[in-house]
Amino acid sequence: MESKFKTIIEPFRIKMVEPIVMTTRKEREKYLDGADNNLFLIKAEHILIDLLTDSGTGAMSAAQWAAMMEGDESYAGCRSYYKMRDAVQDLTGLKHIFPTHQGRAAERILFTTVGEEGKIIPNNTHFDTTRANIEFTKTEAIDLVIEEGKNPASEYPFKGNMDLVKLEELFEKHKGTDHIPLCMLTVTNNSGGGQPVSMKNLKETSELCKRYNIPLFLDACRFAENAYFIKIREPGFENREIKSIVQEMFSYVQGATMSSKKDALVNMGGFLALNDDALAAEVQNLEILTEGYPTYGGLSGRDLAALAQGLQEVVEEDYLEYRIRSTQYLGDALVELGIPIVRPVGGHAVYIDAKAMLPHIEPKDFPAQALACELYLEGGIRGVEIGSFMFGGIDPKTGKERFSEMELLRLAIPRRVYTQSHIDYVIEVFSHVVKNSKLMRGLTITEEPPFLRHFSAKLKRN
Ligand code: F0G
Repeated sequence: MESKFKTIIEPFRIKMVEPIVMTTRKEREKYLDGADNNLFLIKAEHILIDLLTDSGTGAMSAAQWAAMMEGDESYAGCRSYYKMRDAVQDLTGLKHIFPTHQGRAAERILFTTVGEEGKIIPNNTHFDTTRANIEFTKTEAIDLVIEEGKNPASEYPFKGNMDLVKLEELFEKHKGTDHIPLCMLTVTNNSGGGQPVSMKNLKETSELCKRYNIPLFLDACRFAENAYFIKIREPGFENREIKSIVQEMFSYVQGATMSSKKDALVNMGGFLALNDDALAAEVQNLEILTEGYPTYGGLSGRDLAALAQGLQEVVEEDYLEYRIRSTQYLGDALVELGIPIVRPVGGHAVYIDAKAMLPHIEPKDFPAQALACELYLEGGIRGVEIGSFMFGGIDPKTGKERFSEMELLRLAIPRRVYTQSHIDYVIEVFSHVVKNSKLMRGLTITEEPPFLRHFSAKLKRN
């Protein structure tokens, strides 16, 4: 229920605590140096507020911990699988449910099955692991988000929407071939600022896909946050239950990949869900080969039990209101400090437009990574670069250096972990960082792996 009070009440009280420890600036300089300016390489115990990701970093509820005690660890046909399957089917209506150890395992199985050289998979914006898993099978990954989705300042309410004109052009060009095995939509659009897709766009994408006989899949990691945005922003949905919005979203698709580490409120897990029986048979073979027997798929029975419970909690409206409002709170405060962010504020994270904030640092010198390093040095806060450090590198098709459309620093908020005073601290650190922004310098890569370079590449300060 919408509250008349402006204080964001965390809809839980804290039953167990985990200490976090402050470091000195001198220590942080040493740690950052030791990590070659790559924040993935810093030990988590040297971070005060960790906004690296909202993936697998959430806090489980008492009900989830209780469910874990009831986990059934039978190899085949465990009770926890059926609970998980029922919870997924209740929300998605999809027929075949394969648990996986996380989202990218679902992606790998799906794309190994449908992908090969000469094939193309469009999406609003592929997430980095999705793109990498597609490209690994020599399939082409194409991003077709609407123009508003590429403009950080646009206030358009559904900036995750698919560009239907471009999608139709692509379908038309490949009409009568089997080049496009499926189309995806990522909800919310993580790489594009955590922006939602409207129900109208989802429905129209589905209709277009049907006309060309192409199955539509959701990358469903943050389906509940997307549903909440539909409720508060899309006319006609204001009085609908979140669960029924979620069910309608899934009614337009033939399958989904899911990282349960996000909107299933667990620390590990994922699933692949789909309707097609023939595809399911192929998927099952690969699942057994690499993830495990299909009723556990890389997870313990207790993990499946917690996931089943998490899927029920995530569609609770009080939870989602707190979740979306607390992300908004951080975003609004940064705007007040004059920091350019992707507007409107996304669901799981605030994305700072580092290109606009640090115009003196060119994209090739990774402005968002420079800002990430500065934030750590100043206050022990860890964010993540989503820009040319993550998505740049050599284009496998053209062999040329490619740059990201945007240079963003993402501050992702773990679910049910930090309180308002933690976030107030982050805001205070920013008020200091912003004063020195003109003095900040870019970075150069000194060593990098062949793909997903942001996880392990080394950088030096210019
Ligand atoms: N799709 C999207 C939209 C994601 O955000 C992620 C993960 C995945 C797929 C892969 O799932 O990690 O369980 O294998 N995103 C995390 C993040 C890592 O920080 O945004 P996974």
